[in-house]
Amino acid sequence: MSHFSYKNGALCAENVPLTEIARQFGSPTYVYSKAALVENFSAYANACRENQRDASTALVCYSVKSNSNIAVLDLLSKLGSGFDIVSGGELLRVIAAGGDPSKVIFSGVGKTHEEMKLALSHDILCFNVESTAELHRLNEVAGEMGKQAPVSLRVNPNVDAKTHPYISTGLKENKFGIAYDEALTAYRTAATLPHIRVAGIDCHIGSQLLDDAPLLEALDRLIELVDRLTQEGIVLHHIDIGGGIGITYDKDKPVAIGDYLGRLFAKIDKWRLHQYKGKPIQVMFEPGRSIVGNAGLLLTEVEYLKHGAAKNFAIVNAAMNDLMRPAMYEAWHGVQPVVQRVGEQKTYDIVGPVCESGDWLARERSLAIEQGDLLAIMSAGAYGMTMSSNYNTRGRAAEVMVDGDQVHLIRRRETPGELFALETLLP
Ligand code: LLP
Repeated sequence: MSHFSYKNGALCAENVPLTEIARQFGSPTYVYSKAALVENFSAYANACRENQRDASTALVCYSVKSNSNIAVLDLLSKLGSGFDIVSGGELLRVIAAGGDPSKVIFSGVGKTHEEMKLALSHDILCFNVESTAELHRLNEVAGEMGKQAPVSLRVNPNVDAKTHPYISTGLKENKFGIAYDEALTAYRTAATLPHIRVAGIDCHIGSQLLDDAPLLEALDRLIELVDRLTQEGIVLHHIDIGGGIGITYDKDKPVAIGDYLGRLFAKIDKWRLHQYKGKPIQVMFEPGRSIVGNAGLLLTEVEYLKHGAAKNFAIVNAAMNDLMRPAMYEAWHGVQPVVQRVGEQKTYDIVGPVCESGDWLARERSLAIEQGDLLAIMSAGAYGMTMSSNYNTRGRAAEVMVDGDQVHLIRRRETPGELFALETLLP
């Protein structure tokens, strides 16, 4: 169910009218629903439970890059989530939020020496290694620290995720992972390195997948490799299938999480051959968008209406620096008036104040609006705030989390002075 709905003609987050949030915190403001977050995480947790998986046989590692606010991380951590991180900074966030480093997996193609050291010092669960060069560096760093680094190799299964090319990651031509044909050799190398402990295998083929068939195909390819490795005496503790399940932005109909996990666990159960210390292999997931995407919206105010010769524009106080997705991927986000008006609808492009023609949030939407009205840009909880910038010296939006009839400020708005506080004049 949606936790953003109209009550008496006014759009609410759970029980709080967005007009009230704008009055109290201003705009643009990201608004998240706690109930929606809990519900979305529970879809994964419940599916694991229904398939007789406990924490030792299934672990959900929320992908921090999708929304890294520490209040979000704290909530998910309390629900039992692990975390998928891609930088030392994200690890520090997880720790600041009270997350458990022993449930953290570290992905990404370019881990630095310092990041490896930081992660090793916190004894994270696993490094998802993406190249042989990275494997050697990790072995070296772990050696310097007198440790053994737990490792999973990110294998590129060469499966077409059938999604936007910018968010497709599992094809041969992508920069991610170790080529499928080279994976066995890389595992053999890993097994000989003294400061590496081979722990698992992972992949991530793309994001906003509506169908689970490519994910299940990727799983088949990983299973083949695990069998080959087992024959060679390299026994893996876990298999990590990455994130990727999409959400409804417009008319998209993503597969239900329960159905996807049901099919995935059925495949693992059928395979069963693989045991690690007498237990079925642990399955990991790295979902981001499907947990937080539809749990958030971006609240913005109409500054001006401009009725041009060819187009009508609603110029709002949020911009591409707040929500990059339309400019970057031509992504579609729903736009809803916060207070429904009766009156003539016109077709508008919703644009921001930034000096770029790419600065648009939505195109050709029929709306009855006036200057000063509030609009909600929907489905903005994932890759919204985390991809925002200070372009045009615009302070980043505030973030609030609604819980029933309570609103909590979880990040205050940046002030202009803070934006250049780290800069210095020449002597
Ligand atoms: N694991 C890895 C290794 C990833 O690279 C990603 C996302 C995820 C997990 C989480 O995937 P999700 O469940 O959220 O689909 N900025 C783009 C999306 C980029 C996704 C990058 N990788 C967007 O706004 O659509």
